[in-house]
Amino acid sequence: MPDFAALDGVRPRGRRVLVRVDLNVPMKDGRVTDMTRIERVAPTLRELADKGARVVVLSHFGRPKGRDSTLSLKPLVEPLSEALGRPVRFAPDCIGPDAEAAVHALKDGEVALLENLRFHPGEEKNEPRFVEALARLGDLYVNDAFSAAHRAHASTEGLAHKLPTAAGRLMQAELEHLSRALEHPQRPVTAIVGGAKVSTKIDLLTNLVAKVDALVIGGGMANTFLHARGTGIGSSLAERDLADTARAVEARAAASGCRILLPEDAVIAPDLKAGVPTRTVPITSVPHDQKILDVGPATVAAIQRLLAESRTLVWNGPLGAFETPPFDAGTVAVARKAAELTRDGRLLSVAGGGDTVAALAAAGVEDRLSYLSTAGGAFLEWLEGKELPGVAALSINKAR
Ligand code: 3PG
Ligand code: MG
Repeated sequence: MPDFAALDGVRPRGRRVLVRVDLNVPMKDGRVTDMTRIERVAPTLRELADKGARVVVLSHFGRPKGRDSTLSLKPLVEPLSEALGRPVRFAPDCIGPDAEAAVHALKDGEVALLENLRFHPGEEKNEPRFVEALARLGDLYVNDAFSAAHRAHASTEGLAHKLPTAAGRLMQAELEHLSRALEHPQRPVTAIVGGAKVSTKIDLLTNLVAKVDALVIGGGMANTFLHARGTGIGSSLAERDLADTARAVEARAAASGCRILLPEDAVIAPDLKAGVPTRTVPITSVPHDQKILDVGPATVAAIQRLLAESRTLVWNGPLGAFETPPFDAGTVAVARKAAELTRDGRLLSVAGGGDTVAALAAAGVEDRLSYLSTAGGAFLEWLEGKELPGVAALSINKAR
């Protein structure tokens, strides 16, 4: 478990608290399309405001190159204010006179949101002068952005060198659950890793096989492993040039006693389209002009049996092309089994990363696992066994 100060020991009344959150939420036509990240940071902001802090909310949004009005945080004021049940002021800059005036105007228990940190290049460069300009706005720094903790930016890392630092409630929950799942887990531990590509998850697979008892590989990346084993995969998506990499992962798994479970049957079709005719075949019988688009029922049953024998599950990535029904069926069936075992107290289930949350939400289990991380890239880097700069920084200058 990483070393950090939680909010319990902090007395923020009357103090200006810089709270780094991740409001990098999906938006369409100026409206937030998924409130998850906002709802998940709301408890920290409410707790600080209720304790009389002057709450200064910092976030990035998108990847602007300089100031870019299409990536303003202003449209987030309203949804954030609704989630908090109190007004939120807005400052059109995150440093300088506008920011200072907004912070100065705050009374105890009030909240201000500052404009997108990434409008200033100093944020991503973790530039000392920019860190200094931010630090001037606060007396205390609370990092509640686990999902941005893989970035060593001014607001995720630099500030910890300047101000007494605490982890927010979401950061704390993420760290506690993730540690429970991989640092000192109840065994057996199973990992499910899906998604399209092996190439983006080589480090993750290499780290996981050394830690877990069983690894289920699904999605497009399973095709690469099947191909490496000499199984015909027809015209399926795969990274055929990564056969050696797949074999190296298998060898490492064998050496550390991790069982690898690949699909034993598949749902196939000539193309990835809704409404195409599909067939279920044994994995050794995929015709040359067909694509593997989901795991078949025998594979689902095997994964469900494995989960029933496991005590801990770490899940990243869907098992099939879940955005296009019926190729979501495998992911949905396995997700429901995980939810059922979790409900019965037989499984600690933790999931996260990019598409995973969308896939589990589509299966209707997003509230029924033990923990669903809000993080994409940070969750993956944590699965890779890397130290996240934003997490490491929490111990530099612990608030008391
Ligand atoms: C995310 O959405 O993964 C985080 O907000 C980090 O965003 P970034 O990848 O642009 O740093
Ligand atoms: Mg990202």
